[in-house]
Amino acid sequence: EQIEKGGYDHFMLKEIHEQPKAILDTYRGRMLADEGIIRMAGIDDHINKFMNAQRIIIVACGTSWHGGLVGEYLIEEFARIPVEVEYASEFRYRNPIVTSKDIVIAISQSGETADTLAAIKLAKSKGAFVFGICNVVGSSIARETDAGAYTHAGPEIGVASTKAFTTQITVLTLIALKLASKKGELSKPELSSLLQKMQLIPGKIENLLKIDDKVKEIAAVYKDAPNCLYLGRGFNFPVALEGALKLKEISYIHAEGYPAAEMKHGPIALIDENMPIVVIATNKGHYEKVVSNIQEIKSRAGKIIAIVTEGDTQVKEIADHVIEIPETEEALTPLLTTIPLQLLSYHIAVMLGKNVDQPRNLAKSVTVE
Ligand code: AGP
Repeated sequence: EQIEKGGYDHFMLKEIHEQPKAILDTYRGRMLADEGIIRMAGIDDHINKFMNAQRIIIVACGTSWHGGLVGEYLIEEFARIPVEVEYASEFRYRNPIVTSKDIVIAISQSGETADTLAAIKLAKSKGAFVFGICNVVGSSIARETDAGAYTHAGPEIGVASTKAFTTQITVLTLIALKLASKKGELSKPELSSLLQKMQLIPGKIENLLKIDDKVKEIAAVYKDAPNCLYLGRGFNFPVALEGALKLKEISYIHAEGYPAAEMKHGPIALIDENMPIVVIATNKGHYEKVVSNIQEIKSRAGKIIAIVTEGDTQVKEIADHVIEIPETEEALTPLLTTIPLQLLSYHIAVMLGKNVDQPRNLAKSVTVE
């Protein structure tokens, strides 16, 4: 097992560090950045279905559901196709309205999640075309779907999903951009420019991973907190949810993720000097509005851990801790903002002596209801 961990203390840490390669492996061979071309057989072979789709419904569970939410923001922003994201467990039992004009995208790392598999079968029985995004080749979900695209993350052993999430976002970005360009919503030069920025992501994550010591220092300050809030907006709202899930899963600290602006509709009541709040405040993501949320937190003595864009000055003045991510297109920031949140939960769990790779009560894939 030590050999399999490749010198890391835990699979989770190894998998966090594998993300630059996992993302590269996922987009490699699928895009020609300079030419502004995306090739994905699963989409190309059924392009008319995608072009005529009245709606895309994404079904998934857990972290994959968070990936789906990022997908909703990406597909609606770029391809202008309406998207709904559903928990597979709810979708399968609520008699959903699905027709042959809908495309259902099922997302699953393992490809074996029982609820997601049942949701696929239901969608197919109602005539929808079902597209899968899976990591495990030949898995049940990969076999059950009409077409699909694999994430090439490699085996994910840690129960807490890390590289599966960022590679799912990578595939969803490619799908959004491909459909956008096919629909004429993006010109070749615009697509090419976005793909060139995408090519820089693995290198940016490589650099970002060097913040590990700083994240460890922050983890040491907050490891005994009983609760934690995560806030983000737009593309980074699902990242806030994912950050909170990671902390809950492996450290057993109660954490909640919220869209930043929802804070004043309830969670603000929880804020006092004992509440750490992780705020994603990238410079193009409704920045001024998030800054005002940060000020509201500060005035209630909450402790702020802010994820900001390199060179930020405004948030730095108010936040208790600041973690910088490299500059990129706002739509690509989830691939970067996720990294420090993974590291934060990892270090807190290690400091608390928890079983990081196999947290209590959790299974890597939930094959029963
Ligand atoms: C994430 O860290 C989880 N352990 C869990 O939420 C997981 O994402 C969920 O069970 C879905 O699994 P899947 O992607 O294999 O379908």
